[in-house]
Amino acid sequence: MRLYAVFGNPIAHSKSPLLHNAVFGHYEKELGFKGEYRPILLENPAELKHRFLELGLYGANITTPFKEAAFSLSDKVEGLAQEIQAVNTWVLREGLVVGYNTDIEGFLAPLKGLKLARALVFGAGGSARAVVCALQSRGVEVVVCNRSAEKLAYFRAQNVPCFLSKDCPSAAYDLIVNTTTAGLKDNSLPCEKSLLKALFRQAKYAYDLIYHQTPFLSLAQEHNLQTFDGKAMLIAQAVLSFAQFAPHLNSSLVLKTMQETLA
Ligand SMILES: NC(=O)c1ccc[n+]([C@@H]2O[C@H](COP(=O)([O-])OP(=O)(O)OC[C@H]3O[C@@H](n4cnc5c(N)ncnc54)[C@H](OP(=O)(O)O)[C@@H]3O)[C@@H](O)[C@H]2O)c1
Repeated sequence: MRLYAVFGNPIAHSKSPLLHNAVFGHYEKELGFKGEYRPILLENPAELKHRFLELGLYGANITTPFKEAAFSLSDKVEGLAQEIQAVNTWVLREGLVVGYNTDIEGFLAPLKGLKLARALVFGAGGSARAVVCALQSRGVEVVVCNRSAEKLAYFRAQNVPCFLSKDCPSAAYDLIVNTTTAGLKDNSLPCEKSLLKALFRQAKYAYDLIYHQTPFLSLAQEHNLQTFDGKAMLIAQAVLSFAQFAPHLNSSLVLKTMQETLA
């Protein structure tokens, strides 16, 4: 039995165990091993690596609010995760904890073919780093707004225009993204409702990384925007993580199984 996990806080809402366990269950023969994937609630980010090693995990996902900690605690970091200093996937390779970020590519999955010139991102945590990197890779001009100042320092250092949400300029953006946890467990919006309404009146698309209907998406729909919740991203980043956990299993089989599981 190979054990995998997702670390986060909160973690009960996570659909990652459902998705990964469906693939382990379906393809045990092709994989050549039994796999199990568990949700783990963590209080202290300093315990992340210790828990990973103590449990004898072969791989893990790391979700809110531990992606920056996972970057710092990785023995080695591969790909764009190095650039954004946030890791959402760990694999144990030759005794080393190797970190990746699959949110970057995962975020872009539902946006294929859309013309985007300007985007506004609410939130400045680990996922916002991935979203900004992804949008910039597509040549999109990005502005970041957050309710508090501390996490904006990272973006300011990257020369990304940043504002406190209360000072957010009400300009025209094609895409408004919610990467905050507002709406995850409550009915809050990422900023003042009046500001969001003004932004939605001028926008085309709204994207919430949370994978259920949120007040942010409902308000966007009231303004006739095309909306995306976090489901497509959830599946795309999970498929890319699974490719790190078990590179020999065909990714289109993994995608199909995860899509059917979430349908
Ligand atoms: N669909 C997917 O595949 C996918 C992938 C990754 C993440 N996500 C989701 O994305 C969200 C963020 O994840 P993360 O790792 O970036 O979290 P994080 O690092 O903890 O960052 C959370 C951000 O939300 C802001 N925030 C929290 N509560 C708020 C509120 N009530 N109003 C306004 N801002 C608030 C925080 O602002 P402060 O700096 O002021 O605290 C911070 O900027 C989570 O809901 C997660 O589930 C989904």
